[in-house]
Amino acid sequence: MSKKVEVLPDQGALITRALELILSKMETAIQERGQFTIALSGGSTPKPLYEAISTQKLPWDKIHVFWGDERYVPPDHPDSNQLMARRAWLDRVDIPTGNIHAIPTNQNDPAAGAAEYERHLQEFFHSSPGELPSLDVILLGMGDDAHTASLFPHTEALKVTDKLITVGNKDGNPRITFTYPFINSARCVIFIVAGANKKPALAQIFAPVADEFTYPSRLIQPQGELWWLLDAAAGSDLK
Ligand code: 6PG
Repeated sequence: MSKKVEVLPDQGALITRALELILSKMETAIQERGQFTIALSGGSTPKPLYEAISTQKLPWDKIHVFWGDERYVPPDHPDSNQLMARRAWLDRVDIPTGNIHAIPTNQNDPAAGAAEYERHLQEFFHSSPGELPSLDVILLGMGDDAHTASLFPHTEALKVTDKLITVGNKDGNPRITFTYPFINSARCVIFIVAGANKKPALAQIFAPVADEFTYPSRLIQPQGELWWLLDAAAGSDLK
């Protein structure tokens, strides 16, 4: 794993740097494999990044979009990560419908939704059960409790290591999430973290030792590249 940490002066510079990095990985992926696969994060930080991507002239037919996690709500619900990404980006560009791989949240049982998305990913990547396919880029945020995707502290999702997708739990509300081993199989993982409220969690993530079940973002140690892109408000104290 190669780990790179960049502290940008402000959130605007963070978004510009994240865009630059994603476009670079996209160019390489399309040159080498004819397509680019990216998993999106939810929350608020990535919204301006998605808006910036939507302004780019890109080979949309070669770009496949997944989600690293989703709230277990309908796709038109205000909490939906899919809805945010569609409004900020996907509904603004000519990306083929089949290239948008949304997490299904229409089943009564979230576990069935997780299993369905796992099957979809295995079919897309032609991978067999137990094999961990590699996305080109997985974009992650981090909560002020050090969660990432929907891998929340001291939840059962952190113990799932034999699947790509599992059910997360935030204060009793079900989520669908990539497991940490699946995240770690990516070619490139990019955290984008902004705001002073993230400082305490970052201090634990970058500490030599801390409990991974308390600070789940510590579990993210990909075989490929790991990038932490931080604004100064979040990252200025990191040595
Ligand atoms: C979600 C996200 C989640 C998010 C962090 C940071 O579904 O909410 O995937 O993991 O990335 O909570 O959120 P902010 O960017 O809003 O701080």
